[in-house]
Amino acid sequence: MNKMKILVVPFLQSILLIGSLEAHCPVYLTVSLTGKTLQDTLLEINWGPYCYGPPQWVGIYAKDPTTSNFQPDFRIDGIANRTGKLITPIKLGKLHFPGGWNRQDASDQPATQYPAGKCLPHFVASYNGTELLTVDCLKIQPNWMAQIKDVNRLPLKDIFLPGTHASGAVFGSSNKSNSILVRDYLVVQQFDVWSQLVFGIRYLDFSIGYKNMNTENEADNFWIANENMLITPLVGILRDVCLFVKRSGEMIVLDFSSFPIGFYKHPEIYSSLYRLLRQELGYEAYRRNVTKDDHCANRNIREILQQDRHILILFPTQELPYPASESTMLCPPWQRFSTSFMNISQTLDYMQLLFSKKPDSPVRDDGWIFTAVRSMEQTLNTQKLETAKKRAAVLNPKVNQWLKGPWGNNANVVAMDYFSNTNIVDLAIQVNAHKAFVMANKDYINLDIFNLC
Ligand SMILES: *[C@@H]1O[C@H](CO)[C@@H](O)[C@H](O)[C@H]1NC(C)=O
Ligand SMILES: *[C@@H]1O[C@H](CO)[C@@H](O)[C@H](O)[C@H]1NC(C)=O
Ligand SMILES: *[C@@H]1O[C@H](CO)[C@@H](O)[C@H](O)[C@H]1NC(C)=O
Ligand SMILES: *[C@@H]1O[C@H](CO)[C@@H](O)[C@H](O)[C@H]1NC(C)=O
Ligand SMILES: *[C@@H]1O[C@H](CO)[C@@H](O)[C@H](O)[C@H]1NC(C)=O
Repeated sequence: MNKMKILVVPFLQSILLIGSLEAHCPVYLTVSLTGKTLQDTLLEINWGPYCYGPPQWVGIYAKDPTTSNFQPDFRIDGIANRTGKLITPIKLGKLHFPGGWNRQDASDQPATQYPAGKCLPHFVASYNGTELLTVDCLKIQPNWMAQIKDVNRLPLKDIFLPGTHASGAVFGSSNKSNSILVRDYLVVQQFDVWSQLVFGIRYLDFSIGYKNMNTENEADNFWIANENMLITPLVGILRDVCLFVKRSGEMIVLDFSSFPIGFYKHPEIYSSLYRLLRQELGYEAYRRNVTKDDHCANRNIREILQQDRHILILFPTQELPYPASESTMLCPPWQRFSTSFMNISQTLDYMQLLFSKKPDSPVRDDGWIFTAVRSMEQTLNTQKLETAKKRAAVLNPKVNQWLKGPWGNNANVVAMDYFSNTNIVDLAIQVNAHKAFVMANKDYINLDIFNLC
């Protein structure tokens, strides 16, 4: 029986993976970390990993090249390497989401559902002579969870959730982010939280700072922080998350991961934050069964949506005084692993330890978060202070590539600074679709094996 299983699973995999994944050389677009403004940021072409038959040439287009014979806006010839990345002169331009997915679009009409994502007007195609080999585009994925059959039955700990680190640390969101220090070193996302969610990010990480602003509204005192600086007010971001889940029906994990400013030895500030979360997210926050004492990672999306709620909040409940510490709307934190203080080779070793799920792995059978970042101090140690973008430009593509192998199947939450120079959302969707398929067909594989073969 076991032997049969080994034979059949790859067979099913290959059925599932027909399409662009099976292309000799996958070619895709990402957003580089080059621009002073988002609009001026240049697109980059990526190919691989494992290009066995590289295309003769690759073109970038502003329209779908399969619908007519357009000339490319930019063309590259002679890709030789099996994997690579190249910054193009094509700018991202002003972001406009189709189908009612801009934040300011009216909510009275339902937004368009996009089962396979929806292309923004940036396409990439690869060719052998005039023969079209692959087409892909820069795309939004506002409802990917709902579109993958059976993924809603997988426990959250078994789903690959693409995430961002310091999710609210975005440039230009307040006048606090005007200084060069903040802009170059503390801002770590180029897309705001709304856009991150539209692109398909489903885990958000928040560091919270408290500063008394002497206004009438206690909510004004809570800020998104990063590396011990206040960056932007919290409450607007929470409202964006609520608006997004209402419009999309998707499920989001919100992780209140650290409290670097103003909380130390102040339980009443934690309580005040709890009241703010109850006020802003109360209707949307999943209610856990406190007597079960689980971390909510064994729950699945279906159970959460059955409550007609869409947000799962992770919060260090032990910091709260009773009874808030027993609140049903807070799930205790998941295990966290970070590469903050590692160089690239240490990061690779660490990922091997975590993602290969060997017996000596510190990853338990629970929810866990892999944060792929390098801290500012880590680069200080190497004598040169690198900007947050420079750090992410080196680290992210490597982590992205390493997750494309078998390790991706063992991922739970993966959170990055500046996620846009990777295709982590597409990768997570592929992995989840595969896992959901295998789970749903497990009985079939076990019992009806002989009919299949
Ligand atoms: C491209 O065409 C050449 C010549 O026809 C062929 O040898 C090669 O295998 C083709 N490459 C791909 C990736 O299809
Ligand atoms: C291909 O790889 C070689 C050796 O690793 C490197 O020197 C070269 O720059 C790469 N070329 C491209 C286009 O990435
Ligand atoms: C932002 O600017 C306004 C007016 O210029 C000022 O009142 C406010 O205190 C500033 N906020 C922060 C957080 O610096
Ligand atoms: C909570 O979990 C306990 C223990 O498993 C169970 O007995 C109880 O019925 C559950 N309560 C609800 C509301 O599901
Ligand atoms: C990474 O750090 C380790 C430990 O400090 C060191 O031995 C190694 O040489 C470093 N590797 C690189 C590529 O800098």
